[in-house]
Amino acid sequence: MQTDISTNPRYEFPEYRTRSNEELSDRIEAIRRRLGEELLLLGHHYQQDEVIAHCDLRGDSYQLSQMAAANKSCRYIVFCGVHFMAETADILANRPEQLQARDGRRVSVVLPDLAAGCSMADMAGIRQVENAWEDLGEILDTEDITPVTYINSAASLKAFCGKHGGIVCTSSNAAAVLKWAFERTSRVLFFPDQHLGRNTALTMGIGNDQMPVWNPHELESGGNSADALLRSRVILWMGHCSVHQMFQAAHVHQFRAKYPNIKILVHPECPQEVNDIADVSGSTGKIITTVQQAPAGTQWAIGTELHLVNRLKKEHPEQEIHFLSPVLCMCATMYRIDLAHLCWSLENLAEGTPVNVIQVNEDTARWSLVALERMLDVR
Ligand code: 13P
Ligand code: SF4
Repeated sequence: MQTDISTNPRYEFPEYRTRSNEELSDRIEAIRRRLGEELLLLGHHYQQDEVIAHCDLRGDSYQLSQMAAANKSCRYIVFCGVHFMAETADILANRPEQLQARDGRRVSVVLPDLAAGCSMADMAGIRQVENAWEDLGEILDTEDITPVTYINSAASLKAFCGKHGGIVCTSSNAAAVLKWAFERTSRVLFFPDQHLGRNTALTMGIGNDQMPVWNPHELESGGNSADALLRSRVILWMGHCSVHQMFQAAHVHQFRAKYPNIKILVHPECPQEVNDIADVSGSTGKIITTVQQAPAGTQWAIGTELHLVNRLKKEHPEQEIHFLSPVLCMCATMYRIDLAHLCWSLENLAEGTPVNVIQVNEDTARWSLVALERMLDVR
């Protein structure tokens, strides 16, 4: 029988703080050897190098959700990323056909530090979303709106999209997902990242005059006139990533003035002014392959999270890589996953006293899965 994890963790966390990285790394590797194929350690590209070094697989959000969906042999997934990613892994790894194939045994998904959230996901609370949907229904026919949520959102919002004919997207498939949505309805309500929604829709010929921004803190129609909503094709939720919001068009101009041949490579969570003038825009996965495929000697200024840019610099000494902003933009919540939390959560898992298990409730998981499977089916 498993111990009550909330009151009796086998190992207390503070003790881990006092250990050196070398010791923690050795202990993590010992657990990896002991659990073998039963353990799958997934890492997002924004994780710190020390953590990434222990991951079985690393990827962007789309690749990580595919990995969680595809794995057949593991009993535990330890997710080195943020909360919405662990929720998504739980939903996909424990979907009905997988559970059936394992005779009902669940895969436990662990997030090493529960404080590893995402401020962007927190900008679209489910009550706010439900209120907005109701308000929109007073002006528009909601049957003719597809709700689309970026994967960077709580499971409750994914479930809302599933229930209302909607879908999830990631930064690597947002255009294909919007196309899917427009084959069904004439409007989209896009959560929670206004920049990804806007940057993607602009590439499809939808203008800003057709993309009002819904401010959940405004009492009347998200701060929009009825005319603006009636004209809309994509209604953008007023959310953003605090990391990518820091990159500015002025940074691009400064680099181009200093290095005339430089290529600007950014993530589509950056504001439109930056995205519009970049040479390449794409998910973390695309940023990596773009650099990998470039000829030696290429100069880059990259606008995405600091740990990924620093890793690219180390892995590609043959290229000249700069960080696009003079201010160091790092994701403080991704950074919460460190060797101490990883070792603590792994040792408790191995001792049968798991901590920080992420389990989405059944109804939310069922409807989120509808929206996630629609995404995984979009080509
Ligand atoms: P991708 O890895 O999908 O590009 O996502 C970036 C991000 O902000 C993750 O939180
Ligand atoms: Fe959220 Fe931005 Fe951090 Fe990604 S980089 S987890 S979107 S705050």
